[in-house]
Amino acid sequence: MAELVRVRREGAVAVLTLNRPEKLNALSSSVEEALAAAVGSEEVATSAALVIEGSGRAFSAGADVHEMREQSVAAILEYYRTTGVVYDRVAALRQPTIAAIHGYCLGGGFELALACDFRIADATAVFGLPEVAIGIVPSSGGLTRLVRSVGAARAKELMLLRDRFDAQEALGFGLVTAVVPEGSAAARAIEIGKELAQLPPLAVEVAKLAADAAADSSREASLLIERLAYAALAQTADHAEATSAFEEKRDPTFGGR
Ligand code: COA
Repeated sequence: MAELVRVRREGAVAVLTLNRPEKLNALSSSVEEALAAAVGSEEVATSAALVIEGSGRAFSAGADVHEMREQSVAAILEYYRTTGVVYDRVAALRQPTIAAIHGYCLGGGFELALACDFRIADATAVFGLPEVAIGIVPSSGGLTRLVRSVGAARAKELMLLRDRFDAQEALGFGLVTAVVPEGSAAARAIEIGKELAQLPPLAVEVAKLAADAAADSSREASLLIERLAYAALAQTADHAEATSAFEEKRDPTFGGR
């Protein structure tokens, strides 16, 4: 049987490919477990950035509808303690993550994309949150991430009033970083990953952590986070290297120290 999530490296960038094209990469628990294994792989652990893409004609059509029937409260809570943790594991990765989106990006697929730091969509991307229409809500962190990204009013509009929206609209909502021509989302995402790999890795990691923490903090706590982050990073060899390289008019070489 083909692997449900393939892992490869493009230089410093790890690329995870959802690989259930015949079901539009619907996120069954087997796909989620394969995704968790891929996220924990050596290729990802040693990478400077991570791209997630879908094979076939979609990024992902969302949670596997066939697995949704007759679940007890206990089974659902157990799922969020185990398999369902994968969305938060993606969000908590040390390195920047980029979703490369084409075709359908619905429900849980959209939630997975929202768990990434950046979203690059090609012109074929179709977004939507079909959960409410089938009597549930997005619950893999997506409702929370959506509200924090676009505010409660827009989140309610997207969940309740909008069946689908396209890449240009998503760009207007601030939900995607860039819209690129059909077929080029993965290539652009990998290019961005390689650009990110040139930056000093500790500063990248701390900037990501601080931005996520600031989004959920009081103004005072957020200011403290950024100043402590600066104080810590100002001690690093990479910061010293960057300032020396600037003075010596040469390119810096970063060691992640
Ligand atoms: N869960 C399980 N299987 C899914 C799926 C999902 N979320 N989305 C698509 N598939 C399967 C289809 O059942 C079909 O399988 P089959 O060939 O064995 O019948 C295959 O993927 C292709 O989908 P199909 O519906 O034939 O493609 P389409 O282009 O006509 O329609 C969608 C695409 C995305 C509009 C449609 O598949 C759909 O509405 N999917 C469900 C979306 C959804 O509700 N997701 C979120 C759940 S919270």
